[in-house]
Amino acid sequence: MDPESPSNIPHSRDSLDLIAREVRTCQLCPLSRTRTHAVPGEGNPKADLMLIGEGPGYNEDKQGRPFVGAAGSFLNELLKSAGLKREDVYITNVVKCRPPQNRDPLPNEIQACNGYLQRQMKLIDPAVVATLGRHSMGVFIPGERIMRVHGQPREVNGRTVVPLLHPAAALHQPALKAAELEDFSRLPAIMKEATSVPTPEPEAAPPPAPATEVEEPERPQGKLEQLRMFE
Ligand code: URA
Ligand code: SF4
Repeated sequence: MDPESPSNIPHSRDSLDLIAREVRTCQLCPLSRTRTHAVPGEGNPKADLMLIGEGPGYNEDKQGRPFVGAAGSFLNELLKSAGLKREDVYITNVVKCRPPQNRDPLPNEIQACNGYLQRQMKLIDPAVVATLGRHSMGVFIPGERIMRVHGQPREVNGRTVVPLLHPAAALHQPALKAAELEDFSRLPAIMKEATSVPTPEPEAAPPPAPATEVEEPERPQGKLEQLRMFE
């Protein structure tokens, strides 16, 4: 990662709006020349779950919003089936501009754009990051095979990362679709686990008082109790 790249300059008052403004005029990689609209991302700025796709497609490039085409409808369905609302999560991509003909994003494009993603993650600070597709997974878990590890959460730099299949890939293949639904259904439990404050160890019970210690003083008896003694 180039530490000198402008998108990596730490901002003392960074914000999602500032990032979005920078992204919309960004020229850090060649994708800037072919985009119609850059797609910074959208959703709950305090989301516990951040979904990270690969890059905008045709519809996203037209609208400047992530996951609004067929893959987006399926993503909405997946979230709903897991009891999650789209407006509760934050959705973005590893590259914010559409690769021509929807080709895979190139390593140098992912690298050029990574500063924006890191800043978004720092601000939102989600308990769980779910990557969508292998290129997004590769940013967090390099060298893994998605078909081997999809759906399995792991800790990456103190955050829970769940690699998921890309909705566009899962949409038309029944076996993958079933796997994707199953992986999404586990997200709420993974989020619960990741957001729960670890319960502190119960404090060790104090050692029993030695027998020789001062005895508990006899309880003074009130008048009523004295009378009761004769009942
Ligand atoms: N596919 C992606 O990876 N991202 C989008 O935003 C849309 C489709
Ligand atoms: Fe900038 Fe990212 Fe767009 Fe490349 S893909 S021009 S780095 S915003």
